[in-house]
Amino acid sequence: MLAPVRDAAAAALTELEREIAAGHGPDGLRLAPTPFVPEVRLHLAEDPILWWARMEANAGHRLPPPYWASVWAGGQALARHLLDHPHLVAGRRVLDLAAGSGLVAIAAALAGAAHVTANDIDPYAVAAVTINARANRVRVAVTGGDLLDRATDGTDLLLAGDVLYDRALADRMLPFLARAAAGGAEVLVGDPDRGHLPPDRLATVASYPVPTTEPAVDSPVRRVQVLRPS
Ligand SMILES: C[S@@+](CC[C@H](N)C(=O)[O-])C[C@H]1O[C@@H](n2cnc3c(N)ncnc32)[C@H](O)[C@@H]1O
Repeated sequence: MLAPVRDAAAAALTELEREIAAGHGPDGLRLAPTPFVPEVRLHLAEDPILWWARMEANAGHRLPPPYWASVWAGGQALARHLLDHPHLVAGRRVLDLAAGSGLVAIAAALAGAAHVTANDIDPYAVAAVTINARANRVRVAVTGGDLLDRATDGTDLLLAGDVLYDRALADRMLPFLARAAAGGAEVLVGDPDRGHLPPDRLATVASYPVPTTEPAVDSPVRRVQVLRPS
């Protein structure tokens, strides 16, 4: 990790540890089982918007949205798939890309991966993966910075939960995933189709009914696919 990225992640870790030690209220964090993956407990925001507003007020500047402080349908389906099919993971070197809370990385570690790395561009996500891995008593190496223009050497299994939520990101993510697959990595994506799922570049491996509290979704359950490049 580059020094500025490492320093930002270290500062975020100190801040999250302080928050957790201080206890929680409606604008704080709470350690809770993940609804669709109860084997994994995560530090999540009671109300991510309140949390975000308070952390920005404390910092005195804008912060990235705290995606790491929520569970995402795509990550939940992918984590469930790994725990129910541990042969996909056992003994392999795994990269959880855009890891957020680290749910998928932690599931991979619990399922028997030889080595798990989680990557996210948000220093708070890097810190959150560290504290969540600790809470679940698994080893996950965490790295910050943007890997999407790099190669994925040394990765057997590349995991990406809910990474196609934005057109600009999908336009970079999809070629990266295709390159990783062409280079020999197995690639699995968890996605609830937020409008950027290409019709012909990914094949469905499994589909899960994932509980959701997302405001834009009417049903309390969202159908989520696990896919691989076709
Ligand atoms: C919707 S969240 C999903 C988190 C997690 N994969 C899950 O399913 O729970 C998307 C995450 O992608 C991260 N992200 C966005 N662009 C990224 C990039 N270029 N490289 C790595 N992470 C990125 C965000 O910081 C955020 O944590």
